[in-house]
Amino acid sequence: MIVEDQEKTHDHFAGLTVWDEKIQGKDIPGTTRVPIQELSAYFDGKFSGLVGLDLGSGSGRSTKELTEKLPGSRVHAIDLSLDGLRNTKATPDRYQASALDIPFAGETFDFISVCGVFTNLVSDDASQAIGLRMNAVKELHRTIKPGGCVVISDFGAEHKIDKYAVNYKRHALITGEIGTIAVLKQGVGFIGKSDEEVAALKGTDSVIRYAHHYFPRELQALLKSGGFKTNTITIGLTKTPSGIPIENIVVLASK
Ligand SMILES: C[S@@+](CC[C@H](N)C(=O)[O-])C[C@H]1O[C@@H](n2cnc3c(N)ncnc32)[C@H](O)[C@@H]1O
Repeated sequence: MIVEDQEKTHDHFAGLTVWDEKIQGKDIPGTTRVPIQELSAYFDGKFSGLVGLDLGSGSGRSTKELTEKLPGSRVHAIDLSLDGLRNTKATPDRYQASALDIPFAGETFDFISVCGVFTNLVSDDASQAIGLRMNAVKELHRTIKPGGCVVISDFGAEHKIDKYAVNYKRHALITGEIGTIAVLKQGVGFIGKSDEEVAALKGTDSVIRYAHHYFPRELQALLKSGGFKTNTITIGLTKTPSGIPIENIVVLASK
């Protein structure tokens, strides 16, 4: 399972598209806040001997921060992207794997940090997207020890703080789900288009990818459906990969 033992970079892994870390030639690291303050509060600043997982570790930004700021813990990293894993330093190790099939035995982790990953659990079919998220939560619950916790840090959908201008209803004409946006090719927009014209963008090359933004009650319900209890919800600000300010929701839930 060690990353360097595997053959080559895949565009797809476990049936999922590997996140494209380069859009228009620019490196795009994760931008959601690594939930150090939530983990520190939950474990009362005592990390010695804890085993953690950075689920969807990207190029290792979040793994580095978790490792440096939670001293004494050991943080594994997994991601779909081999390219990202090659840049990731994780102790004990990093693995190419999916959030939907975490390659560890049940009750392995004291904590799992999930930064900027759930936004990628999307599909052309909204009910399938919800199924993907439920499967991921099921895997989180299976692999976390009783008394352990998961922290999800992702893009929020309420935008009470920053008034991020997004019309979820218009996006849903393409994506089929409120909160899921269609990331459009440069130069393509909704202004001046009828609802029918917006809907007709679905499946065309004007749509680069989908991304989901989470409402607090939605993440809470999702985690509850998987057997977790929400302890804290924090709303802050971050930036999208293209540099636009956006809400960052962080939910810590315990098993
Ligand atoms: C925005 S990046 C965040 C990376 C890192 N956590 C950070 O904060 O810097 C999202 C990462 O999630 C990974 N990802 C998306 N879906 C995944 C899945 N189903 N299983 C594992 N990783 C996934 C992508 O490959 C990508 O590297």
